[in-house]
Amino acid sequence: MQLNKLADQVIEVGKTAGAFIREQYFLFNEKNVEVKSLNNLVSFVDITAEKMIVEELKTVFPEAAFLTEEKTIEESKSEWLWIIDPLDGTTNFIHGIPTFAVSIGLIHKGKMKLGVVYEIMRNECFSAYEGNQSQLNGQPIGVSERKTLADSLIATGFPYEKFDFIPQYLKTLSHLMQNTRGIRRIGSAAVDLSYTACGRFDGFFEYNLNPWDVAAGAFIVQQAGGQLSCFSGSDNFIFGREILAGNGLINRELLQVIQQNNSTSTNAIGTNS
Ligand code: IPD
Ligand code: CA
Ligand code: CA
Repeated sequence: MQLNKLADQVIEVGKTAGAFIREQYFLFNEKNVEVKSLNNLVSFVDITAEKMIVEELKTVFPEAAFLTEEKTIEESKSEWLWIIDPLDGTTNFIHGIPTFAVSIGLIHKGKMKLGVVYEIMRNECFSAYEGNQSQLNGQPIGVSERKTLADSLIATGFPYEKFDFIPQYLKTLSHLMQNTRGIRRIGSAAVDLSYTACGRFDGFFEYNLNPWDVAAGAFIVQQAGGQLSCFSGSDNFIFGREILAGNGLINRELLQVIQQNNSTSTNAIGTNS
């Protein structure tokens, strides 16, 4: 398996789906929105884009199985697995906010091998494959060099369908508001991770994400010199439904804030501790 060649092909697949999504963005009508579950929206755009990606990847690499958000193809077993979110940032897309991406990751026996995140409206393609530095539009990228939370810009995703961990989360946000340069919620985990990989953000954390939200972006952070974990510190961040990514210099400080608030929180809004 020549991962460099495969990466080029996957970039083309991502861009083709991205071109379709871009076209639909300008034509989109709210009548096309369907509700999958609370605040979890979808339209024919997500589904068509996923079918396009799956069809092309089947030709590119027939041995691999698929895990996709919209379930347009049945999950099957193989040592190789594509993990795909055809449109990460659907709520932004539907509301006319131009931040959303195609996300395609590939794992082999549980180990990430390749990731592509195409941020469509900025025409920015983030990519990585094993053994190589992550790239943005073909140029190498690296994480930031900021050493403290005080100097950092941190990205996150707000809970929107599962609310039992809100008290802990608000305490962490309260601390970060008072002890960082700022917090951003841009509405696409794949973009949050890609921006961490190229040093725009110094760190990112979110609860309750799925593998297709994070697989490609997490690998791009890793291959850009960053570090990732769950909130326990373990490395099950692709399937573990919680993720902390950072430049490696502020991870520990950010993790400590999250862990401290997770273990002590009882009130909805905490103080800066
Ligand atoms: C969502 C985005 C968002 C995150 C959500 C995800 P979707 O993905 O990544 O930033 O906060 O948890 O579900 O639904 O737009 O593909
Ligand atoms: Ca997603
Ligand atoms: Ca999606």
